[in-house]
Amino acid sequence: MIYPLLAAVAAYLIGSLSFAVIVSRVMGLKDPRSYGSKNPGATNVLRSGSKAAAVATLVLDAVKGWLPVMLVRWFGQPYGLGDGTVALVGLAAFAGHLWPVFFKFEGGKGVATALGVLLGINWILGLATVATWLIIAFFFRYSSLASLIAAAFAPVYYLLANGVAWYTDPAISMAIFVMAMLLAWRHRENIARLIQGKESRLGAKK
Ligand code: G3P
Repeated sequence: MIYPLLAAVAAYLIGSLSFAVIVSRVMGLKDPRSYGSKNPGATNVLRSGSKAAAVATLVLDAVKGWLPVMLVRWFGQPYGLGDGTVALVGLAAFAGHLWPVFFKFEGGKGVATALGVLLGINWILGLATVATWLIIAFFFRYSSLASLIAAAFAPVYYLLANGVAWYTDPAISMAIFVMAMLLAWRHRENIARLIQGKESRLGAKK
């Protein structure tokens, strides 16, 4: 019992590293919480004009979801850590991004971190979700819409795989579903802007 708990706390702390803020600070850019959507995430960092900072944010925010999952998968077995702990640490890292202890619990929307968690669970699941994001982003040019649709499809991809190619774990299914729901809830302002036709398109500065 103590090992899953310790793993979850460690994952939450890693998830609490808000890389949009950290990368922007290191690169001498404005705090992403002060412009655009005010969201500490890669999409908003892109609005600063620095593609390098946006890519660094995207990669690091994804790694902080991927790494805890992989550490449990690589080294967890001797400590009795299985798929239940994979689900737990994935959710904990994601929760860290949304409510970071190091940043007054004011975090982002969780897209890159969720993607990292999915890639850690199964890289094909992660890639299918990325492909969904890219297709929607390519045709509609809205990052938020692409994130919402990709998040809606992620649990479906995982469940569809049941009995087809991969082993499907109920705790992992639940974790993916909860992440998708929280991600959608964090996008509620984006959803309102999309409906009103006021959402900013990818590549726009505002
Ligand atoms: O990564 C979050 C994205 O889906 C929306 O970001 O800044 O447009 O609210 P933003």
